[in-house]
Amino acid sequence: MAKIMMVSSEAHPFAKTGGLADVVGALPIALQAFGDEAAVVMPRYRSISKDDAELVREDMRVWLNGGYYRVDVYLKMHRGVKFYFIDCPGLYDRDGIYGDRHGDFGDNALRFAVLCLAALGVARFLFRTDIFHCHDWQAALLPLYRKFYFPNDPTFEGTRSLFSIHNLGYQGYFPHRQLPEIGLDDRFWNAGALEFHGGGNLLKAGLIWSDYLSTVSPNYAREIQTAEFGCGMEGILRDRSSRLTGILNGVDYDDWSPETDRFIAAPYSVDDLSGKIACKRDLLEYFGFPVDDRHMRRPIVGVVSRLAQQKGLDLLGQMIAPILDEELTLIVLGSGETALENMFNHFSWARPDKFRCWIGHNNPLAHRIEAGSDMFLMPSRYEPCGLNQMYSLRYGTLPIVHATGGLDDTVDGETGFKFWGAYGPHLLEAVRHAVKVYWNDPDTWGKMVRTAMRRDYSWNASASAYSGLYQSLLDEAAEPEPESFLPGVAS
Ligand code: ADP
Ligand code: GLC
Repeated sequence: MAKIMMVSSEAHPFAKTGGLADVVGALPIALQAFGDEAAVVMPRYRSISKDDAELVREDMRVWLNGGYYRVDVYLKMHRGVKFYFIDCPGLYDRDGIYGDRHGDFGDNALRFAVLCLAALGVARFLFRTDIFHCHDWQAALLPLYRKFYFPNDPTFEGTRSLFSIHNLGYQGYFPHRQLPEIGLDDRFWNAGALEFHGGGNLLKAGLIWSDYLSTVSPNYAREIQTAEFGCGMEGILRDRSSRLTGILNGVDYDDWSPETDRFIAAPYSVDDLSGKIACKRDLLEYFGFPVDDRHMRRPIVGVVSRLAQQKGLDLLGQMIAPILDEELTLIVLGSGETALENMFNHFSWARPDKFRCWIGHNNPLAHRIEAGSDMFLMPSRYEPCGLNQMYSLRYGTLPIVHATGGLDDTVDGETGFKFWGAYGPHLLEAVRHAVKVYWNDPDTWGKMVRTAMRRDYSWNASASAYSGLYQSLLDEAAEPEPESFLPGVAS
């Protein structure tokens, strides 16, 4: 049994912008079945109430740049797991998680540096840790601080760190002048350390100084070692390929199952799909479409997504006219880049006969779209894992996906529709093919729906793989730190 500390900027149900939160909210719970005890350390953002939390450490000092930050640590128990919240109002008590309407916060490097050091404090005082499991660039400095600040500290002796890449497209850039603010100096400013094309890059700290690396699907683990998907990190990742693995994310079926989903109009299951019709009616009504025979018979194609370049929704924009010429209804829920928001708002206005969107973040509506749609579109340019296609499978909502990353790993010809190459015409062809099967071959459609719903992507297999990985890291003979134990750091 190992004690695992997950360090993350997001965890469902406390703070979420994307799938990272789903993973950090579910994996610690799933690990319990394997005898591991996992806790989560994250910031206490403004949206997270202290009222139902226990103050477990007051005035813990985080030393940086010759001064210190005072943080309080709050604890909440959630489904048997300890969630520790780092309360430092000057850094986290703001309207957004990473930024506000003016853009990203300028002090994000500092905000997440303090998170990493505070997590080491939690390990010292509150949750003696065997494995630090750090997620994405926000937690990438932890392995570096652990080695650089506390090289011979008994608290951390024998501990190991695992760094999980959820999305290589986000690397935590910062300018050179902020290096002292995060407690580092020019020894770290070179291409073998944090410097990247003249700027600073937090992600590199995790890639270089963690004991082991993982990412969220086997396919993405291969892809990121190539120039096409490596976002400039492919060299480091190839060098460390013997210390890199891909473990597919799971689905928390307690949250995402049509049998028990509290957000949807009627429950349904693979044995009795009648509730799905009620969910379709509910979705049409919600978006203000007439609930007549024509609309009920037309397939609904759903999209729930961050509106970002990664997600390939500009390809949908390119092809929206011919797509809407098909006998279908298209519904989009998303928020993000203004250009994409404007584009979808425009089409809602221009083509109200077949298209509607809801701009913003809306979890209940995400569930209703999964349940009420017939197809789910994910044309992502790249997709480390992707959760929505797995949710869609469970809801009998057949995914149409670009064959990349985790989408390629989880959707096949028996459960959905794939296209190769992130090009508008390929996307259009896949949508046309799906629509044709839907209208012309209901038997095949019904069979695919049932096959999709029976696919099992529960956390069990993934949590078992993580548990095995933690153990193998702990079993590795604790090697004495070599003299230059910080590769890349000039002396
Ligand atoms: P990513 O993490 O890259 O955004 P994933 O598919 O892994 O992609 O996870 C996305 C998660 O965020 C899913 O749980 C999805 O339902 C949710 N989500 C994305 N956009 C929205 C939105 N606008 N409203 C509600 N939930 C959303
Ligand atoms: C990222 C990826 C997504 C993945 C999620 C959780 O946000 O874009 O593909 O499912 O992290 O690992």
